[in-house]
Amino acid sequence: MSLSVSRRLAAATALAVAGLLAATSPAALAAPTAVAAAPTPPDIPLANVKAHLAQFSSIAAANGGNRAHGRSGYKASIDYVKGKLDAAGFTTTLQTFTSSGATGYNLIADWPGGDPNSVLMSGSHLDSVTAGAGINDNGSGSAAVLETALAVSRAGLQPTKHLRFGWWGAEELGLVGSKYYVNNLPAAEKAKISGYLNFDMIGSPNPGYFVYDDDPTIEQTFKNYYAGLGIPTEIETEGDGRSDHAPFKSAGIPVGGLFSGADYTKTAAQAQKWGGTSGRAFDACYHSSCDTTANINDTALDRNADAIAYAVWNLGAATPVPPGPSFENTADVNIPDSPGAAVTSPINVSGVTGNAPATTKVDVNIVHTYRGDLVINLIAPDGTAYLLKNSSSDSAANVIATYTVNASSEVANGVWKLQVKDVGAQDVGYINSWKITF
Ligand code: TRP
Ligand code: ZN
Ligand code: CA
Repeated sequence: MSLSVSRRLAAATALAVAGLLAATSPAALAAPTAVAAAPTPPDIPLANVKAHLAQFSSIAAANGGNRAHGRSGYKASIDYVKGKLDAAGFTTTLQTFTSSGATGYNLIADWPGGDPNSVLMSGSHLDSVTAGAGINDNGSGSAAVLETALAVSRAGLQPTKHLRFGWWGAEELGLVGSKYYVNNLPAAEKAKISGYLNFDMIGSPNPGYFVYDDDPTIEQTFKNYYAGLGIPTEIETEGDGRSDHAPFKSAGIPVGGLFSGADYTKTAAQAQKWGGTSGRAFDACYHSSCDTTANINDTALDRNADAIAYAVWNLGAATPVPPGPSFENTADVNIPDSPGAAVTSPINVSGVTGNAPATTKVDVNIVHTYRGDLVINLIAPDGTAYLLKNSSSDSAANVIATYTVNASSEVANGVWKLQVKDVGAQDVGYINSWKITF
Protein backbone atom coordinates (compact mmCIF):
# COMPACT_ATOMS: atom_id res chain seq x y z
CA MET A 1 0.00 0.00 0.00
CA SER A 2 1.29 3.42 -0.85
CA LEU A 3 2.08 5.94 1.83
CA SER A 4 -0.57 8.41 0.73
CA VAL A 5 -3.30 5.78 0.68
CA SER A 6 -2.46 4.56 4.17
CA ARG A 7 -2.41 8.14 5.40
CA ARG A 8 -5.74 8.78 3.78
CA LEU A 9 -7.19 5.68 5.47
CA ALA A 10 -5.84 6.66 8.85
CA ALA A 11 -7.20 10.16 8.52
CA ALA A 12 -10.60 8.97 7.40
CA THR A 13 -10.75 6.45 10.25
CA ALA A 14 -9.84 9.08 12.80
CA LEU A 15 -12.55 11.40 11.54
CA ALA A 16 -15.15 8.66 11.44
CA VAL A 17 -14.29 7.78 15.05
CA ALA A 18 -14.61 11.42 16.01
CA GLY A 19 -18.15 11.11 14.65
CA LEU A 20 -17.89 14.58 13.22
CA LEU A 21 -17.29 14.00 9.57
CA ALA A 22 -18.25 11.62 6.84
CA ALA A 23 -15.47 9.42 5.53
CA THR A 24 -13.86 10.21 2.19
CA SER A 25 -15.69 8.70 -0.75
CA PRO A 26 -14.80 5.04 -1.41
CA ALA A 27 -13.73 5.96 -4.94
CA ALA A 28 -10.99 8.20 -3.58
CA LEU A 29 -9.77 5.47 -1.26
CA ALA A 30 -9.63 2.88 -4.02
CA ALA A 31 -7.15 4.75 -6.18
CA PRO A 32 -3.70 3.38 -5.34
CA THR A 33 -1.98 5.39 -8.05
CA ALA A 34 1.77 4.87 -8.14
CA VAL A 35 3.44 7.50 -5.98
CA ALA A 36 6.69 7.45 -7.99
CA ALA A 37 7.82 11.02 -8.39
CA ALA A 38 8.46 12.36 -11.87
CA PRO A 39 12.11 11.67 -12.68
CA THR A 40 14.32 14.75 -12.60
CA PRO A 41 15.47 15.83 -16.07
CA PRO A 42 19.25 15.69 -16.47
CA ASP A 43 21.59 18.59 -17.07
CA ILE A 44 22.84 17.84 -20.59
CA PRO A 45 26.65 18.29 -20.59
CA LEU A 46 27.52 21.13 -22.99
CA ALA A 47 30.93 19.51 -23.58
CA ASN A 48 29.24 16.40 -24.99
CA VAL A 49 27.05 18.45 -27.32
CA LYS A 50 30.10 20.40 -28.49
CA ALA A 51 32.04 17.16 -29.05
CA HIS A 52 29.33 16.12 -31.53
CA LEU A 53 29.65 19.51 -33.24
CA ALA A 54 33.42 19.01 -33.51
CA GLN A 55 32.74 15.66 -35.19
CA PHE A 56 30.33 17.28 -37.67
CA SER A 57 32.98 19.90 -38.38
CA SER A 58 35.64 17.22 -39.04
CA ILE A 59 33.23 15.28 -41.22
CA ALA A 60 32.58 18.39 -43.35
CA ALA A 61 36.31 19.12 -43.60
CA ALA A 62 36.99 15.58 -44.79
CA ASN A 63 34.14 15.66 -47.33
CA GLY A 64 34.53 18.79 -49.41
CA GLY A 65 33.49 21.28 -46.75
CA ASN A 66 29.82 20.47 -46.26
CA ARG A 67 27.29 17.89 -45.05
CA ALA A 68 24.67 18.57 -47.72
CA HIS A 69 22.05 16.22 -49.16
CA GLY A 70 23.55 13.90 -51.78
CA ARG A 71 27.14 14.59 -50.64
CA SER A 72 29.44 12.21 -48.80
CA GLY A 73 29.48 14.47 -45.74
CA TYR A 74 25.78 13.87 -45.19
CA LYS A 75 26.05 10.09 -45.15
CA ALA A 76 29.10 10.32 -42.87
CA SER A 77 27.04 12.46 -40.46
CA ILE A 78 24.23 9.89 -40.46
CA ASP A 79 26.72 7.08 -39.81
CA TYR A 80 28.21 8.99 -36.87
CA VAL A 81 24.83 9.61 -35.21
CA LYS A 82 23.65 6.06 -35.89
CA GLY A 83 26.80 4.57 -34.36
CA LYS A 84 26.30 6.49 -31.10
CA LEU A 85 22.64 5.47 -30.87
CA ASP A 86 23.24 1.82 -31.67
CA ALA A 87 25.91 1.64 -28.98
CA ALA A 88 23.48 3.19 -26.48
CA GLY A 89 20.77 0.59 -27.00
CA PHE A 90 18.45 2.35 -29.44
CA THR A 91 16.66 0.53 -32.24
CA THR A 92 17.67 2.50 -35.31
CA THR A 93 16.17 2.56 -38.78
CA LEU A 94 17.73 4.17 -41.82
CA GLN A 95 15.04 5.37 -44.20
CA THR A 96 16.09 6.19 -47.76
CA PHE A 97 14.40 8.46 -50.27
CA THR A 98 15.36 10.16 -53.51
CA SER A 99 15.52 13.91 -54.03
CA SER A 100 17.13 15.87 -56.89
CA GLY A 101 18.47 12.62 -58.26
CA ALA A 102 20.37 11.70 -55.10
CA THR A 103 19.67 9.23 -52.30
CA GLY A 104 18.63 10.91 -49.06
CA TYR A 105 18.51 9.42 -45.56
CA ASN A 106 16.40 9.84 -42.46
CA LEU A 107 17.55 8.18 -39.26
CA ILE A 108 14.87 7.06 -36.78
CA ALA A 109 15.84 5.86 -33.31
CA ASP A 110 13.38 4.18 -30.94
CA TRP A 111 14.04 3.79 -27.22
CA PRO A 112 12.59 0.41 -26.21
CA GLY A 113 9.62 0.70 -23.82
CA GLY A 114 6.91 3.17 -23.02
CA ASP A 115 3.35 3.18 -24.29
CA PRO A 116 3.51 2.13 -27.97
CA ASN A 117 0.21 3.93 -28.54
CA SER A 118 1.56 7.26 -27.29
CA VAL A 119 4.80 8.27 -28.97
CA LEU A 120 6.76 11.41 -28.14
CA MET A 121 9.08 12.24 -31.03
CA SER A 122 11.94 14.74 -31.09
CA GLY A 123 13.85 15.60 -34.23
CA SER A 124 16.19 17.85 -36.16
CA HIS A 125 17.53 18.07 -39.68
CA LEU A 126 21.06 16.76 -40.10
CA ASP A 127 21.83 18.17 -43.56
CA SER A 128 23.70 21.42 -44.17
CA VAL A 129 23.57 23.67 -47.20
CA THR A 130 26.41 23.15 -49.70
CA ALA A 131 28.05 26.45 -48.67
CA GLY A 132 29.52 25.11 -45.45
CA ALA A 133 29.57 22.70 -42.51
CA GLY A 134 26.21 23.80 -41.10
CA ILE A 135 27.23 23.81 -37.46
CA ASN A 136 24.50 26.08 -36.12
CA ASP A 137 22.15 25.12 -39.01
CA ASN A 138 21.68 22.41 -37.97
CA GLY A 139 24.55 20.68 -36.22
CA SER A 140 23.23 22.42 -33.09
CA GLY A 141 19.81 20.77 -33.08
CA SER A 142 21.22 17.45 -34.30
CA ALA A 143 23.88 17.31 -31.58
CA ALA A 144 21.52 18.38 -28.78
CA VAL A 145 18.85 15.84 -29.77
CA LEU A 146 21.55 13.15 -30.02
CA GLU A 147 22.92 14.00 -26.58
CA THR A 148 19.38 14.00 -25.11
CA ALA A 149 18.83 10.53 -26.56
CA LEU A 150 22.14 9.39 -25.06
CA ALA A 151 21.07 10.87 -21.70
CA VAL A 152 17.87 8.78 -21.90
CA SER A 153 20.10 5.73 -22.26
CA ARG A 154 22.47 6.79 -19.46
CA ALA A 155 19.49 7.32 -17.13
CA GLY A 156 18.01 3.96 -18.09
CA LEU A 157 14.83 5.99 -18.42
CA GLN A 158 11.59 4.02 -18.29
CA PRO A 159 9.31 6.61 -19.86
CA THR A 160 5.53 6.57 -19.75
CA LYS A 161 5.39 7.41 -23.46
CA HIS A 162 7.37 5.65 -26.13
CA LEU A 163 10.33 7.88 -27.05
CA ARG A 164 11.43 8.28 -30.67
CA PHE A 165 14.12 10.50 -32.13
CA GLY A 166 14.61 11.52 -35.76
CA TRP A 167 17.33 13.11 -37.90
CA TRP A 168 16.03 14.40 -41.22
CA GLY A 169 17.71 14.57 -44.59
CA ALA A 170 17.26 17.20 -47.31
CA GLU A 171 15.54 19.78 -45.09
CA GLU A 172 17.41 22.47 -46.97
CA LEU A 173 15.82 21.29 -50.23
CA GLY A 174 12.32 21.90 -48.83
CA LEU A 175 11.71 19.65 -45.81
CA VAL A 176 12.07 16.66 -48.12
CA GLY A 177 13.09 14.02 -45.56
CA SER A 178 10.54 14.88 -42.88
CA LYS A 179 7.76 15.10 -45.49
CA TYR A 180 8.80 11.68 -46.76
CA TYR A 181 8.69 10.21 -43.25
CA VAL A 182 5.28 11.64 -42.39
CA ASN A 183 3.74 10.86 -45.77
CA ASN A 184 4.91 7.25 -45.58
CA LEU A 185 3.67 6.63 -42.04
CA PRO A 186 0.50 4.52 -42.03
CA ALA A 187 -2.48 6.45 -40.59
CA ALA A 188 -2.49 4.20 -37.52
CA GLU A 189 1.16 5.08 -36.80
CA LYS A 190 0.53 8.80 -37.29
CA ALA A 191 -2.31 8.61 -34.79
CA LYS A 192 0.06 7.21 -32.16
CA ILE A 193 2.38 10.24 -32.23
CA SER A 194 1.25 12.40 -29.34
CA GLY A 195 3.73 15.14 -30.11
CA TYR A 196 6.67 16.15 -32.28
CA LEU A 197 9.38 18.49 -30.96
CA ASN A 198 11.63 20.22 -33.53
CA PHE A 199 15.07 21.73 -33.00
CA ASP A 200 16.57 23.69 -35.88
CA MET A 201 19.23 26.33 -35.09
CA ILE A 202 19.47 26.46 -31.30
CA GLY A 203 23.00 27.81 -30.79
CA SER A 204 22.89 31.03 -32.82
CA PRO A 205 25.88 33.29 -32.10
CA ASN A 206 23.72 36.37 -31.32
CA PRO A 207 20.89 34.35 -29.82
CA GLY A 208 17.24 34.92 -29.18
CA TYR A 209 15.08 32.53 -27.18
CA PHE A 210 12.12 31.60 -29.35
CA VAL A 211 9.46 29.00 -28.55
CA TYR A 212 7.08 27.68 -31.22
CA ASP A 213 3.48 28.62 -30.36
CA ASP A 214 1.75 25.59 -31.80
CA ASP A 215 0.56 23.00 -29.27
CA PRO A 216 -0.15 24.83 -25.97
CA THR A 217 1.06 22.01 -23.71
CA ILE A 218 4.39 21.69 -25.51
CA GLU A 219 4.78 25.47 -25.66
CA GLN A 220 4.07 25.77 -21.93
CA THR A 221 6.62 23.07 -21.14
CA PHE A 222 9.41 25.04 -22.84
CA LYS A 223 8.18 28.28 -21.26
CA ASN A 224 8.27 26.63 -17.84
CA TYR A 225 11.88 25.63 -18.39
CA TYR A 226 12.86 29.18 -19.32
CA ALA A 227 10.75 30.68 -16.53
CA GLY A 228 12.80 28.54 -14.15
CA LEU A 229 15.95 30.23 -15.48
CA GLY A 230 14.30 33.65 -15.30
CA ILE A 231 14.87 34.17 -19.03
CA PRO A 232 12.10 35.73 -21.13
CA THR A 233 11.13 33.97 -24.34
CA GLU A 234 9.33 35.13 -27.47
CA ILE A 235 7.10 33.31 -29.88
CA GLU A 236 8.99 32.01 -32.93
CA THR A 237 7.86 34.03 -35.95
CA GLU A 238 10.87 33.89 -38.28
CA GLY A 239 9.10 31.98 -41.00
CA ASP A 240 6.50 29.69 -39.47
CA GLY A 241 6.54 26.30 -41.17
CA ARG A 242 10.14 26.69 -42.35
CA SER A 243 11.37 23.55 -40.66
CA ASP A 244 10.59 19.86 -40.16
CA HIS A 245 7.71 20.34 -37.73
CA ALA A 246 5.59 21.59 -40.65
CA PRO A 247 4.74 18.17 -42.17
CA PHE A 248 3.85 16.83 -38.70
CA LYS A 249 1.64 19.83 -38.05
CA SER A 250 -0.04 19.39 -41.44
CA ALA A 251 -0.79 15.79 -40.47
CA GLY A 252 -2.60 17.00 -37.33
CA ILE A 253 0.17 16.04 -34.90
CA PRO A 254 0.77 18.47 -32.00
CA VAL A 255 4.14 20.19 -32.51
CA GLY A 256 6.51 22.48 -30.67
CA GLY A 257 10.14 23.47 -30.64
CA LEU A 258 12.91 25.93 -29.96
CA PHE A 259 14.83 28.34 -32.17
CA SER A 260 17.58 30.89 -31.49
CA GLY A 261 17.24 32.90 -34.72
CA ALA A 262 18.53 32.89 -38.29
CA ASP A 263 18.95 35.88 -40.62
CA TYR A 264 16.48 38.25 -38.94
CA THR A 265 17.98 41.21 -37.08
CA LYS A 266 18.02 41.41 -33.28
CA THR A 267 16.13 44.49 -32.12
CA ALA A 268 17.25 46.87 -29.38
CA ALA A 269 14.52 45.52 -27.11
CA GLN A 270 15.71 41.97 -27.72
CA ALA A 271 19.33 42.88 -27.01
CA GLN A 272 18.12 44.56 -23.82
CA LYS A 273 16.58 41.40 -22.47
CA TRP A 274 18.88 38.75 -23.96
CA GLY A 275 22.19 40.53 -24.37
CA GLY A 276 24.09 40.31 -27.65
CA THR A 277 24.17 42.87 -30.42
CA SER A 278 21.15 44.79 -31.67
CA GLY A 279 21.03 45.68 -35.36
CA ARG A 280 22.84 42.45 -36.17
CA ALA A 281 21.41 39.11 -37.38
CA PHE A 282 20.83 36.35 -34.85
CA ASP A 283 23.04 34.26 -37.13
CA ALA A 284 25.03 36.38 -39.60
CA CYS A 285 26.57 33.15 -40.98
CA TYR A 286 23.20 31.59 -41.78
CA HIS A 287 23.63 29.39 -44.88
CA SER A 288 27.22 30.64 -45.30
CA SER A 289 30.67 29.10 -45.21
CA CYS A 290 31.28 30.77 -41.84
CA ASP A 291 28.69 28.53 -40.12
CA THR A 292 31.53 26.74 -38.34
CA THR A 293 32.17 25.68 -34.74
CA ALA A 294 33.01 29.37 -34.10
CA ASN A 295 29.41 30.22 -35.05
CA ILE A 296 27.91 28.95 -31.80
CA ASN A 297 26.86 30.70 -28.62
CA ASP A 298 27.67 28.18 -25.90
CA THR A 299 25.18 29.59 -23.40
CA ALA A 300 22.27 29.36 -25.84
CA LEU A 301 23.29 25.86 -26.92
CA ASP A 302 23.62 24.73 -23.30
CA ARG A 303 20.23 26.14 -22.25
CA ASN A 304 18.43 24.78 -25.29
CA ALA A 305 19.96 21.32 -24.89
CA ASP A 306 18.82 21.27 -21.26
CA ALA A 307 15.38 22.48 -22.38
CA ILE A 308 15.10 19.51 -24.78
CA ALA A 309 15.83 17.08 -21.96
CA TYR A 310 13.39 18.95 -19.70
CA ALA A 311 10.66 18.59 -22.33
CA VAL A 312 11.38 14.94 -23.10
CA TRP A 313 11.35 14.06 -19.40
CA ASN A 314 8.27 16.12 -18.55
CA LEU A 315 6.21 15.27 -21.61
CA GLY A 316 7.41 11.69 -21.99
CA ALA A 317 8.31 10.38 -18.57
CA ALA A 318 6.30 12.16 -15.88
CA THR A 319 3.81 9.99 -14.06
CA PRO A 320 0.48 11.66 -13.24
CA VAL A 321 0.47 13.16 -9.75
CA PRO A 322 -1.82 11.06 -7.57
CA PRO A 323 -4.57 12.92 -5.72
CA GLY A 324 -3.71 13.68 -2.11
CA PRO A 325 -5.87 12.92 0.92
CA SER A 326 -9.39 14.37 1.11
CA PHE A 327 -11.48 15.41 4.11
CA GLU A 328 -15.18 16.22 3.98
CA ASN A 329 -17.89 17.68 6.23
CA THR A 330 -21.43 16.77 5.17
CA ALA A 331 -23.22 18.28 8.16
CA ASP A 332 -25.72 20.99 7.11
CA VAL A 333 -25.09 24.51 8.43
CA ASN A 334 -27.88 27.06 8.15
CA ILE A 335 -26.91 30.42 6.59
CA PRO A 336 -29.00 33.19 8.20
CA ASP A 337 -30.34 35.92 5.92
CA SER A 338 -28.52 39.26 5.75
CA PRO A 339 -27.66 41.04 8.05
CA GLY A 340 -26.93 37.84 9.95
CA ALA A 341 -23.47 36.79 11.10
CA ALA A 342 -21.09 34.65 9.02
CA VAL A 343 -21.33 30.91 9.68
CA THR A 344 -18.60 28.29 9.45
CA SER A 345 -18.31 24.56 8.85
CA PRO A 346 -15.13 22.95 10.27
CA ILE A 347 -12.94 20.12 9.02
CA ASN A 348 -10.27 18.74 11.34
CA VAL A 349 -7.32 17.66 9.22
CA SER A 350 -4.75 15.27 10.65
CA GLY A 351 -2.11 12.90 9.36
CA VAL A 352 -0.98 15.11 6.49
CA THR A 353 2.75 15.86 6.51
CA GLY A 354 3.96 19.39 5.91
CA ASN A 355 2.14 22.23 4.22
CA ALA A 356 -0.94 22.25 2.05
CA PRO A 357 -0.15 22.22 -1.70
CA ALA A 358 -0.30 25.16 -4.08
CA THR A 359 -3.22 23.32 -5.67
CA THR A 360 -5.33 22.69 -2.60
CA LYS A 361 -8.81 21.84 -3.88
CA VAL A 362 -11.98 23.00 -2.16
CA ASP A 363 -15.29 21.50 -3.28
CA VAL A 364 -18.25 23.58 -2.12
CA ASN A 365 -21.90 22.50 -2.12
CA ILE A 366 -24.25 25.22 -0.87
CA VAL A 367 -28.01 25.20 -1.36
CA HIS A 368 -29.26 28.78 -1.68
CA THR A 369 -31.96 30.64 -3.61
CA TYR A 370 -29.68 33.54 -4.72
CA ARG A 371 -25.97 32.72 -4.75
CA GLY A 372 -24.95 36.32 -5.54
CA ASP A 373 -25.75 37.08 -1.86
CA LEU A 374 -22.92 34.88 -0.62
CA VAL A 375 -19.31 35.69 0.30
CA ILE A 376 -17.34 32.48 0.79
CA ASN A 377 -13.92 32.15 2.40
CA LEU A 378 -11.66 29.24 3.22
CA ILE A 379 -10.15 29.82 6.67
CA ALA A 380 -6.82 28.13 7.34
CA PRO A 381 -5.99 26.68 10.79
CA ASP A 382 -3.99 29.84 11.64
CA GLY A 383 -6.96 32.08 10.71
CA THR A 384 -5.76 33.22 7.28
CA ALA A 385 -8.74 33.79 4.99
CA TYR A 386 -8.70 32.81 1.32
CA LEU A 387 -11.55 34.36 -0.67
CA LEU A 388 -13.24 31.70 -2.78
CA LYS A 389 -16.18 33.74 -4.00
CA ASN A 390 -17.35 37.30 -3.54
CA SER A 391 -20.92 38.63 -3.63
CA SER A 392 -22.32 39.58 -7.01
CA SER A 393 -25.56 40.11 -8.88
CA ASP A 394 -25.59 36.47 -10.00
CA SER A 395 -29.21 35.53 -9.28
CA ALA A 396 -28.84 31.79 -9.96
CA ALA A 397 -29.38 29.26 -7.20
CA ASN A 398 -26.77 27.20 -5.29
CA VAL A 399 -22.99 27.18 -5.24
CA ILE A 400 -21.67 23.86 -6.52
CA ALA A 401 -18.08 24.58 -7.42
CA THR A 402 -14.48 23.48 -7.04
CA TYR A 403 -11.93 26.14 -6.13
CA THR A 404 -8.15 25.77 -6.31
CA VAL A 405 -6.33 27.62 -3.54
CA ASN A 406 -2.62 28.25 -3.22
CA ALA A 407 -2.38 27.32 0.46
CA SER A 408 1.29 26.41 0.29
CA SER A 409 2.18 28.70 3.20
CA GLU A 410 -0.27 26.86 5.50
CA VAL A 411 0.44 23.82 7.64
CA ALA A 412 -2.04 21.18 6.48
CA ASN A 413 -2.96 19.71 9.87
CA GLY A 414 -5.47 21.59 12.00
CA VAL A 415 -9.02 22.87 11.76
CA TRP A 416 -9.95 24.36 8.38
CA LYS A 417 -13.24 26.19 8.01
CA LEU A 418 -15.55 27.12 5.20
CA GLN A 419 -16.95 30.53 6.13
CA VAL A 420 -20.11 31.81 4.46
CA LYS A 421 -21.75 35.20 4.92
CA ASP A 422 -25.03 36.31 3.37
CA VAL A 423 -24.82 40.00 2.41
CA GLY A 424 -28.17 40.39 0.58
CA ALA A 425 -31.60 40.37 2.21
CA GLN A 426 -34.45 37.94 1.35
CA ASP A 427 -32.89 34.77 -0.07
CA VAL A 428 -31.59 32.03 2.24
CA GLY A 429 -30.02 28.59 2.25
CA TYR A 430 -27.49 26.28 3.92
CA ILE A 431 -24.06 24.70 3.54
CA ASN A 432 -24.87 21.21 2.33
CA SER A 433 -21.30 19.86 2.36
CA TRP A 434 -17.73 20.81 1.54
CA LYS A 435 -14.50 18.96 1.01
CA ILE A 436 -10.81 19.86 1.07
CA THR A 437 -8.24 17.86 -0.94
CA PHE A 438 -4.49 18.23 -0.39
N1 TRP B 1 16.58 25.66 -41.68
C1 TRP B 1 15.64 26.73 -41.62
C2 TRP B 1 15.62 27.38 -43.01
O1 TRP B 1 16.62 27.38 -43.68
C3 TRP B 1 16.04 27.74 -40.60
C4 TRP B 1 14.93 28.54 -40.17
C5 TRP B 1 14.54 29.74 -40.60
C6 TRP B 1 14.02 28.16 -39.16
N2 TRP B 1 13.44 30.15 -39.95
C7 TRP B 1 13.10 29.21 -39.07
C8 TRP B 1 13.88 27.06 -38.33
C9 TRP B 1 12.06 29.15 -38.16
C10 TRP B 1 12.83 27.02 -37.42
C11 TRP B 1 11.93 28.05 -37.34
O2 TRP B 1 14.60 27.90 -43.43
ZN1 ZN C 1 17.90 24.51 -40.55
CA1 CA D 1 -30.08 36.52 1.42
